[in-house]
Amino acid sequence: MTILITGSSGLIGSEVCAYFDSLGWDIHGVDNNQRAVFFGPEGDTRWNQRRLQETLRRFTHHELDIRDRDGVLRLIETLRPSAIVHAAAQPSHDRAAAIPFDDFDTNAVGTLNVLEAARRFAREAPVVVMSTNKVYGDAPNRIRLRESETRWEYDDPAYANGIPETFTIDQSKHSIFGASKVAADVMTQEYGRYFGMNTCCLRGGCLTGPAHSGVELHGFLSYLLKCNLEGRVYRVYGYKGKQVRDNIHSRDVARFIHAFIDAPRCGEVYNLGGGKSNSCSILEAFEAARRLTGKPMKYEYIDQNRIGDHICYYSDLRKMREHYPGWDITISLDRIFEEIVDGWKAR
Ligand SMILES: NC(=O)c1ccc[n+]([C@@H]2O[C@H](COP(=O)([O-])OP(=O)(O)OC[C@H]3O[C@@H](n4cnc5c(N)ncnc54)[C@H](O)[C@@H]3O)[C@@H](O)[C@H]2O)c1
Repeated sequence: MTILITGSSGLIGSEVCAYFDSLGWDIHGVDNNQRAVFFGPEGDTRWNQRRLQETLRRFTHHELDIRDRDGVLRLIETLRPSAIVHAAAQPSHDRAAAIPFDDFDTNAVGTLNVLEAARRFAREAPVVVMSTNKVYGDAPNRIRLRESETRWEYDDPAYANGIPETFTIDQSKHSIFGASKVAADVMTQEYGRYFGMNTCCLRGGCLTGPAHSGVELHGFLSYLLKCNLEGRVYRVYGYKGKQVRDNIHSRDVARFIHAFIDAPRCGEVYNLGGGKSNSCSILEAFEAARRLTGKPMKYEYIDQNRIGDHICYYSDLRKMREHYPGWDITISLDRIFEEIVDGWKAR
């Protein structure tokens, strides 16, 4: 069995490579270290590419830009993979505004390149596309909230379990990134519904783990813990630092992708996050970091939230659990913190 994974040097791509390698699949990774172009040297993912090349048994790296349509078509025609995981992206909400062409070409057009190549040359392959909760724009901010000492919380029983996949993606502020991801998300659904392919969009909350090359503009817990370990000042933007994120370890993401590839469905959408039990606010993350490393967090508060930023967001995981009862979150928030800290120390 052969799997093609784009963004293979990134957090999710590399985890999925390692996961399927351990199952004995042939792994073909596509990455061109564009993360270093988006975010500078701290975003460099070559270390992770080398790690995969040195440690996996059946890994081949392809230095290819997913915007290169002919290159993507040729590769998928040559490999004719049994499954495709598309994780290459410009992943930052804030970065996109400065580079709208690069953002849209990578996120929307790059996804179309992968989908169309799959339709022509690997039509039976399940195609998993990493989407984002930013497709909901800032509409979740309209839900009534209550404020506690350390976090914002939904104050509407309809969202007690979090945001479901039926939530509106329309008529709200998405950021330029959120809009390019909406285009990719809807196109992925369309390749399922219109062409009958086994596609799905995974609308990620905060996806995290030790393989993230966290930077201020992307990789919440990875960057926060890096700042804590190095004694750097972390900047908190608005909402009193009580904004809530749900965090899922990249291994639990890979396990879900495996479940989908094993029993694929057509044009599906899932909200893939840590859910309520793995959620924390920035202030709560600071305290958890201090407990773990013994170092207090240095931070600066900027009384202006990021444009379109969610105040409180956690995913309703019930659809995932219903469609794939063998899957659940297996890695707790405490364990996630420990693994990220160990990962930074080892690097
Ligand atoms: N990490 C999160 O918190 C999060 C949350 C929601 C959604 N997502 C989505 O999950 C996916 C994976 O995210 P991640 O955290 O692993 O990101 P990442 O930046 O760690 O990995 C993406 C990889 O894609 C590569 N890449 C980017 N543009 C490319 C191009 N044009 N051609 C080839 N390679 C290219 C980068 O070099 C990088 O190694 C993305 O679609 C992202 O939007 C991530």
